[in-house]
Amino acid sequence: TSGGSDAAKRRAGEHAADLVTDGDVVGLGTGSTAAHAIRALGRAVDAGLDVQGVATSYASRDLAREVGLPLVELGAVSRIDLAIDGADQVSDDLALIKGGGAAHAREKVVDAAAARFVVVADPSKETATLDRSVPVEVLPDARATVRRAVRDLDGEPTLRAAERKDGPVVTDNGNLVLDCDFGALPDPGSLATALATTPGVVAHGLFVDLADEVHVGHADGVRVRAR
Ligand code: A5P
Repeated sequence: TSGGSDAAKRRAGEHAADLVTDGDVVGLGTGSTAAHAIRALGRAVDAGLDVQGVATSYASRDLAREVGLPLVELGAVSRIDLAIDGADQVSDDLALIKGGGAAHAREKVVDAAAARFVVVADPSKETATLDRSVPVEVLPDARATVRRAVRDLDGEPTLRAAERKDGPVVTDNGNLVLDCDFGALPDPGSLATALATTPGVVAHGLFVDLADEVHVGHADGVRVRAR
């Protein structure tokens, strides 16, 4: 869903997949970086690793099936050992913007449930302060009232349009996405609370105080940053 070198993404994804041990229930993130972790886990399963994956999207479920990674339904799982997921932006204090692929509602459930949440990224995702648009998943019938609430918070909402269909993006949950530009976010926690308490918001893409570590792929290896 974004730029950045595929080699860096692969290094980060494979590095995080190495953390998985026998018996783990693993959250499978969405996006091109998490996909490298899923493929690596598929190879580890072929080599004898005993693991169950919990998918965060249709896309990650389909990929897990393709590579032979056993799956368990999110609705049937109360414990996740490790979640490996990408991000659209990672700040110095490991706050994230997610939802570039509109998967952030399930991602947040899975990532927050994990005992250890590992973000995988390439250097293009790193920033001192978050400043990208925040994806907000909304109930379709709440799109006008949530737009208004976002403007009251000094944000500029844009309904996400589908690329190869006339009309809006519809999420895996049947909802719409407003991409909300608030400019730079030196204090993402207060905006996260304001968005989360807006009626009709299903999930917003700010992940604050959730990530335990970020694995950033570089040409010469992986840099791990932890909280
Ligand atoms: C999905 O909605 C997002 O949260 C992704 O995790 C994010 O877009 C990362 O994707 P890439 O690894 O492809 O950049």
